[in-house]
Amino acid sequence: MLTLDLSKATQFLAADAMKKFEAPVAEAQKALEECTCEGNDFLGWMHLPSSITPEFIAEINATAKTLQQECDAVVVAGIGGSYLGARMVIDALSNSFGWLQASKYPRILFAGNNIGEDYLSELIAYLKTVRFGIINISKSGTTTETAITFRLLKTMCEQQRGKDVAKKVIVAVTDAKKGAARTTADKEGYKSFVIPDNVGGRFSVLTPVGLLPIAVAGFDITALVKGAQDMERTCGIDTPYAENPAAQYAACRNALYAAGKKIEILANYQPKLHNLGEWWKQLYGESEGKDGKGIFPASVDLTTDLHSMGQWIQDGERTIFETVVSVAAPNSKLEVPSDAENLDGLNFLAGKRIDQVNKMAELGTQLAHVDGGVPNLKLTVDKLDEYHIGALIYFFEKGCGISGLLLKVNPFNQPGVEAYKKNMFALLGKPGYEKETEAIKARL
Ligand code: PA5
Repeated sequence: MLTLDLSKATQFLAADAMKKFEAPVAEAQKALEECTCEGNDFLGWMHLPSSITPEFIAEINATAKTLQQECDAVVVAGIGGSYLGARMVIDALSNSFGWLQASKYPRILFAGNNIGEDYLSELIAYLKTVRFGIINISKSGTTTETAITFRLLKTMCEQQRGKDVAKKVIVAVTDAKKGAARTTADKEGYKSFVIPDNVGGRFSVLTPVGLLPIAVAGFDITALVKGAQDMERTCGIDTPYAENPAAQYAACRNALYAAGKKIEILANYQPKLHNLGEWWKQLYGESEGKDGKGIFPASVDLTTDLHSMGQWIQDGERTIFETVVSVAAPNSKLEVPSDAENLDGLNFLAGKRIDQVNKMAELGTQLAHVDGGVPNLKLTVDKLDEYHIGALIYFFEKGCGISGLLLKVNPFNQPGVEAYKKNMFALLGKPGYEKETEAIKARL
């Protein structure tokens, strides 16, 4: 379901570099399994896939069905871990031009992930023209970007559709007890789902945070979960080090980091995977970037970005390595046509699949980058469907947990995210921030 080829990365490492990580990886896996590592109150993602029951999936699908029946568009209000996973999966599985076509499923829109006045105004203008619903996703229930968006859209939905329908088409995904999103959901009588206490935002795509929007978009969450379940087994503590893809990935990237490769670029050759890069950046960046340490996660869409970032990757500072997510088989079939006049000189490609051209670009780029001193890890996914995306999600999550522990950081907290919030609240005069307001004024 997923193959990891490290041969073009390990050639940059000492012969025993991977072997040296075997014991630390085993220790990290044991700590994750036995909940003895730092951040052990956030390990709910570890066995989440295998704990999901058909009844739970049925409950999510039933709510998705209501939204599908009642809405032309559904706005997912959420930021960070509360939207990136759903966006990644929906994009990876959707027709690239589906938004231009009529569909039996609602259009999924994402908001609450920025504070752009134009973005929100333009969204509101569009929503005036359709029957819309909202999935309000926030674990804390208090995140400013999401809360402002929800305030705007809740009022609008109620005015447009009436309180009774609004109650049916607004769903909350939040904490079981605390936070404004919970208070509002309980008071208004919205259908709600709980984000488990022990699952952090960036590890939450397989909770209703991701599963509900994905189901509303018409995708098979049973297959998605099945892929994750199978990968949970494959990456489990009983799988030997050399055969465990998450262990190998975590070890290899840490060995490269120790050898001075400070930046990892996640590359894809399928435009649908752009948001895989966004989700992955949060997962690894927020988990590892702390205590003055951490590989900087970057992402590129290829071949597109070979015409913008290609020069830097090939020839810039040699502190990078590259992880390519390659899709073995496309879901469609298209060949380069023959042309009698051959004015563009492309007849040497006539009859070849577009994907074959893409694959040769991928191979040629891999070889060029390796020649240029960029270690290359290649992760091949058989195809883009729910099952394989589910497997990919769990692979990256498990790899991240192990990798963070190898780096000796707590992979499950994000203390650095609070700094901007404190300043923003002080600048906006939020009650309770009076001292910070005074302090910040003195700096301006
Ligand atoms: O991974 C995380 O914990 C964060 O990215 C959160 O998901 C993000 O800040 C949103 O938080 P909340 O769900 O509380 O609104």
